[in-house]
Amino acid sequence: MSDVSYAPRTAAWRALGERAGALSDMTIEALFEADPERFGAFSLDGPGLLLDFSRQRLDRRAVSSLLDLAAETGVAERIGQMFGGEPINNTENRAALHVALRRPANRPLTVAGKDVMPLVETERTRMRKLADELAAGTLCGYTGERITDVVNIGIGGSDLGIVMAAKALGEYRNPEIGIHFVSNVDGVELSHVLERVAPETTLFVICSKSFTTLETLTNARELRAWLLARGGEPAVAAQCVAVSTNHEAMDAFGIAPERRLAIWDWVGGRFSLWSAVGLALALAIGWRNFEAMLAGGQAMDEHFRDTPFERNLPVMLALIGIWNRNFLGAGSHAVLPYDDHLGRLPAFLQQLEMESNGKSVRRNGEPVECRTCPVVWGEPGSNAQHSFYQLLHQGTDPISIDFLLPASSGVGRQAQQDLAAANCLAQTLALAVGDREASRDSPHLEYPGSRPSSLLLFERLDPATLGSLIALYEHKTFVQGVIWDVNSFDQWGVELGKRLASGLSEAVSGENPRDNPLPIAGALDRLRAARPRRQNGE
Ligand code: F6P
Repeated sequence: MSDVSYAPRTAAWRALGERAGALSDMTIEALFEADPERFGAFSLDGPGLLLDFSRQRLDRRAVSSLLDLAAETGVAERIGQMFGGEPINNTENRAALHVALRRPANRPLTVAGKDVMPLVETERTRMRKLADELAAGTLCGYTGERITDVVNIGIGGSDLGIVMAAKALGEYRNPEIGIHFVSNVDGVELSHVLERVAPETTLFVICSKSFTTLETLTNARELRAWLLARGGEPAVAAQCVAVSTNHEAMDAFGIAPERRLAIWDWVGGRFSLWSAVGLALALAIGWRNFEAMLAGGQAMDEHFRDTPFERNLPVMLALIGIWNRNFLGAGSHAVLPYDDHLGRLPAFLQQLEMESNGKSVRRNGEPVECRTCPVVWGEPGSNAQHSFYQLLHQGTDPISIDFLLPASSGVGRQAQQDLAAANCLAQTLALAVGDREASRDSPHLEYPGSRPSSLLLFERLDPATLGSLIALYEHKTFVQGVIWDVNSFDQWGVELGKRLASGLSEAVSGENPRDNPLPIAGALDRLRAARPRRQNGE
């Protein structure tokens, strides 16, 4: 990226700064009075979703400058590079071609001159076979009994998307199949899950792109020992499948080639739900629903690639985020769904956005000259109203917000969903308009208002809509990365802690008590004194 097209040095950036200054005294209410057509001008339809950003603190001139910013920073070119399979992950020299994962098999996509769709289709067929066998009751374990439970062992991108989508599509799950997740290294989830499932009727999906992740390999080794103790090697062979790029590590673990599903280095972990990484989800909801989710993602991909920016949902969502972050000073972004099914969406988006764009170095290695990713957080809105909404309404920090609202109840309780909708709209209104009248003698009753939010409205949370929603946020993340000029597809910031932890495990257990880096020496001593002594053979 040349200097003139680096966002903070563009004319559009300067214009946006000026516009933010000019609008700083303008309330959202006044913006509506000045432009009663705001809803028409500031809402967009995309596949299965409406984005209403009329209660953002911006006007038509600001939107026009945001679109100029996208043009000046080369967003269109970079979208072309992504769909073209170019190595846009420059620190790892890899493509970022998650769009291939939801693409129809007969439409080629190339990486380094090679069409990847046949690879994608082969793994899809293998996933489908497993999903169909499970649904038909013909997928059996080492005793010949049918599989009734699926456990995904993975972490980060090999866990969060599957957990989020399995909850989101809970009403689409096969009620005869239990789905469980093990991610943390502390052994708590593993213990709880192994108490609940039987070895002969459970399929364990060991899911790790790298197959080197400490948490996943630790849990997988413990699982292996558990299976060996119950059914010997035949149990390990029959009850485990693995998903990874790392065939040597799967060899070393003893996963037979026919029990492996492949992914590729051109799929980032946090973008991989659509691949064999989503196997546990496909098993839980069945292939037809998984395919519908892929189709929803694909519809959003086409919308993203082919729609002019002023009507392009991911681009506009990204630009609204840039406006709030860089021009209105929002250091955090709350995601507030009014449907309990989306309870894990904030956690999924935390990895997607913060691991992708939580960076301070530009693609050329120079320090960034503007703020990048805000802190992403959230909870289902009803719960959150009774915990942290106080801060949204009367706190001191600017926070940007996405509300998410399905019109239909996913569980046939429409009257209750209508209440959720009323609450969601009431909150967006209260945040936008506030209440300054009642507060003349009682400042604690003042609601300052002009607190911006967007609303994503959809008919129902079905697999296609979820696919569209996830792809929307993926592309939003990518566009923001382009504008901030960071590489959204690496995650070097997570490596130092991993390295230090591997050196410290012996220090914690007391096997190597000399290894005491000064800043943690006191804590290590207290920890060693407090932890139970090792028993023989432990
Ligand atoms: O440590 C971060 C990370 O590398 C994520 O990017 C990734 O999603 C997660 O760990 C799990 O990695 P893997 O799938 O290789 O086990």
